[in-house]
Amino acid sequence: MKTSLSREQALELLKKYNKEPFHILHALTVEGVMRWYAEELGYGEDADFWGIVGLLHDIDFELYPEEHCEKAPELLREGGAEEELIHAVVSHGYGLRVDTAPEHEMEKVLFASDELTGLIGAAARMRPSKSSKDMELSSLKKKFKDKKFAAGCSRDVISRGADQLGWELDRLLDQTILAMRSCEDQVNAEMEQLA
Ligand SMILES: [Fe+2]
Repeated sequence: MKTSLSREQALELLKKYNKEPFHILHALTVEGVMRWYAEELGYGEDADFWGIVGLLHDIDFELYPEEHCEKAPELLREGGAEEELIHAVVSHGYGLRVDTAPEHEMEKVLFASDELTGLIGAAARMRPSKSSKDMELSSLKKKFKDKKFAAGCSRDVISRGADQLGWELDRLLDQTILAMRSCEDQVNAEMEQLA
């Protein structure tokens, strides 16, 4: 899986349509998480592609929240993205916004981890360390069950994501903590640079 977009071009494209730090932070986080999963699941050769899909997956969300995942193909095509990349981005709205189902394992990982990174990020910010690095699976599971905590993060979407991968929910939670740990320092450093 290859894209002609360099990481630099993808970041420029993201910044063209996203100005809010919250959205940039989310994009960088999902990028790092996708890269980690590519390596973990034996797709190391495609890690750049997985990462760019993560970086651009919410490209249309800030400006076109009502057309999320429907506007993205146009923005991505204009930016020079290939159809494979566009399919991956669109499929993360499956069952919510669009009928395009995740097919490739990369797409299923994006669907499953996107919402979950929001939950883990919110849980990390509550910790004295402000970090995912000392977060245990058991504490995340409590946050997952507490529907009032980070109520905007759909537990249903996360559970469906695990099902689509054929994984137990615990595996998804545990691995996504590891994925977030792997990129946390780099994401924070890049956010500081962008500020
Ligand atoms: Fe997202």
